[in-house]
Amino acid sequence: MTRPGDQISGFGLGLRPQHFSDVLAAPPPAGGGDGAGVDWFEVISENFMAVGGRPMANLMAVRERYPMAMHGVSLSIGGPDPLDRDYLLSLKDLADRIEPAVISDHLCWTGAHGINLHDLLPLPLTEETLDHVAARVREVQDVLGRRIALENASTYVTFTADSLTEWDFLTELTRRADCDLLLDVNNIYVSAFNHGFDAEAYLAGVPAERVKQVHLAGHENNGDHIVDTHNAPVADAVWELYRKAVRHLGPVPTMIERDADIPPFAELVDELAMARRLAAEATGGAAA
Ligand SMILES: [Fe+2]
Repeated sequence: MTRPGDQISGFGLGLRPQHFSDVLAAPPPAGGGDGAGVDWFEVISENFMAVGGRPMANLMAVRERYPMAMHGVSLSIGGPDPLDRDYLLSLKDLADRIEPAVISDHLCWTGAHGINLHDLLPLPLTEETLDHVAARVREVQDVLGRRIALENASTYVTFTADSLTEWDFLTELTRRADCDLLLDVNNIYVSAFNHGFDAEAYLAGVPAERVKQVHLAGHENNGDHIVDTHNAPVADAVWELYRKAVRHLGPVPTMIERDADIPPFAELVDELAMARRLAAEATGGAAA
């Protein structure tokens, strides 16, 4: 079998270890994003950095059949510590092996003084932060030899120092650092609800040509705030926002993330069909 190329199109899923055997037993993707199953997978980079053995063998077996994206959670692009060179080299090593279409991480910080808090923490949206993050994105891209995509994380607090909207911050970041974006439509919905901003203004404010991938996920609505739990199907209101996102962005590779209460593989494939259907309606049938 010829290994698929290094581009993603259509509709994907986050690859979770409990689904390896289902993925390898599924029919191969039709290609071009017009199939009915899964067109590509995204892997959590840290799960496969500096590992070998069966996990890597499984990963490579999936890669022989599907294009992939790599998604990280530990880059700490806004953090105060210098970027971790060993981490970056390990990330590059994995990228060299699986040749992903997109390498992404989050607009956040994850710790300080060498301590990883394993959480995606919010940044003050200021000119100073923009300078700091843009310089670090350029440094990461120099090591990797390619652009990265930064994802909007869901947030639960804002800073009195904020002087930019998140969408203006991300837009300016793409200009200063020449980077791409991964737009998480659920995270836009969650943050808009929590902070009272207009989710549609966010969508209209980001440069469509920089958005290389879209995430969808489930959340938990606690009445006065929403938590980005990734433990449930995509909410109806997020599907509605996704429809609007596709109208603004055009066809864009889209995937569903599920990280807790992970259902059988077939359920996620069924849920993904909803994204395929809504995107086709929103774009008049153009391939993602
Ligand atoms: Fe996400």
